[in-house]
Amino acid sequence: MTNAVTGHSGRPWWHDAVVYQVYLRSFADSNGDGLGDLAGVRSRLPYLASLGVDALWLNPFYLSPQKDHGYDVADYYEVDPLFGTLEDFDALLADAHAHGLRIICDVVPNHSSSEHEWFKRALADPMSDERSRYIFRPPAADGGPPNNWRSVFSGPAWTLDEASGEYYLHLFDASQPDFNWRHSEVHAEWERILRFWLDRGVDGFRIDVAHGLYKDAELRDNPEAGRLVPGAPAYESINAKHNWDQPETIEVFRRWRQITDSYAGDRMMVGEVFLFDLGRVASYAGADRLHQAFNFMVMATPFEAAALRDVIEKALGAFTVDGAGPTWVLSNHDLVRHVTRYGGGDAGLRRAKAATGTLLALPGSPYLYQGEELGLEQADVPPEARQDPIWVRSGGTIEGRDGCRTPIPWTDEPPGYGFTTSATPWLPVEDTAKAGSVAAEEADPASTLAFYRRAIGIRREARPSLGDEVEWLATPAGTLGFTRSAADGTTYTCLLNTTTRAVPVRLPGEATVVLSSELSVPEGARALPGTDNFAIAVPGETCLWLRSVDPDRFVRDAAQHD
Ligand code: NOJ
Repeated sequence: MTNAVTGHSGRPWWHDAVVYQVYLRSFADSNGDGLGDLAGVRSRLPYLASLGVDALWLNPFYLSPQKDHGYDVADYYEVDPLFGTLEDFDALLADAHAHGLRIICDVVPNHSSSEHEWFKRALADPMSDERSRYIFRPPAADGGPPNNWRSVFSGPAWTLDEASGEYYLHLFDASQPDFNWRHSEVHAEWERILRFWLDRGVDGFRIDVAHGLYKDAELRDNPEAGRLVPGAPAYESINAKHNWDQPETIEVFRRWRQITDSYAGDRMMVGEVFLFDLGRVASYAGADRLHQAFNFMVMATPFEAAALRDVIEKALGAFTVDGAGPTWVLSNHDLVRHVTRYGGGDAGLRRAKAATGTLLALPGSPYLYQGEELGLEQADVPPEARQDPIWVRSGGTIEGRDGCRTPIPWTDEPPGYGFTTSATPWLPVEDTAKAGSVAAEEADPASTLAFYRRAIGIRREARPSLGDEVEWLATPAGTLGFTRSAADGTTYTCLLNTTTRAVPVRLPGEATVVLSSELSVPEGARALPGTDNFAIAVPGETCLWLRSVDPDRFVRDAAQHD
């Protein structure tokens, strides 16, 4: 295979890559312990390559007590034996590259595990330098926590170190103490960590809690507790002013960008910037900072054409600044799966496919979450099986994220459904009675999987010649439509109808349906001439892609052949 992982059309590969998130614990278990692992991912690379995605984002696999399922890292240079070895990682990386797939590793620089050597030393010796690499403070005058900050996972963001009488800060679980980014050794160590993985050949990093590294220098009380976010109801304190988005943070990424740029091969970084102000999110991405930042705005928008158009237009405007492309996120391992958010059942699935089809038609990078290509819904994980620290910390009052993290059903055979041979997978495997298994969907041309494959395939074929410009069409209420054109005169039109009834939409010329999220409109159907224009009826809650060739161009080309 010739260099299968090069970018195209002179753009860096990440510019419009489709990235598939592999939630390692739940993807494929190679050794029968009930937990997914690196060798399991490696064994499924042909499946991932056949989806047509460009890159895999792997959730953290480093040595960890797994209190927050890998986001509590005890050693950033080691693979947790639960997932394999460094050699397994190297083998996966090499094989992924051979399949034309890049690998993005998830790094967690906001906090470590309380089992990290630094933190252990920090607790053992209050005079140690390691102590000042975390955020310890004496109690407030009343003996309680130093300020009013709340943990995202509920409860106070401070835990008392009884031995010293001081509190330490943790914006997440008490087992995840926050680093003090005002300490130079934290910077130096993180540069070593990045280089360690870049030297091994990783193609990029997903940066956990990218907007959180610095805290308010004076640790002032937050003016309000913070609101819950639609789609991410488990998270508290998301907009707490003094915890997030401090001006110093961007300087870290300027330095990291110099590091990634010093390596060949367009290494990239995408930041988890969990803010709901698009301008602020976009400010993290650009030519001298992160390559991309997650845009969670579409996720937080209802399935309604005008609202979706508004948020897409704003994102296209905000993210094209300075070389960073937009990203599109509907689901991930922290969010309620979008089939369920859109109402669940057949209707939820129909809407989810229509929304995904729309995002896949846009410039920029869609980030897909494992299982969405099967149409998986949020699972009902019984309380006794729940594991999320949010569930634990909230004393069982907040359901948490287990329902979007259940293992992939590869086959229809219970109890392991091809995910594991163990009788006790870490979370119950998704029951294939609700959504199809990979095996069943591969055999069904009308499946959600088949739809994803077609959409990603068309996108892949079209993008080398497509520009980033999006032209909006005037379409009836309840619909949206836009076109993207290629230099050769081909135009792609995406239409989305979010109402429940079919709506006729006029187009500027003749066009052929190349993709439909519902097969009631056959691919190959044509927009027909109407009284004064070409029109196509878009069924309710459906997305269509149409292709047309510029008629002038046709004539010109024909003349040249005469
Ligand atoms: C965001 C991650 O996506 C989430 O899973 C994790 O719990 C928190 N950051 C804390 O690391």
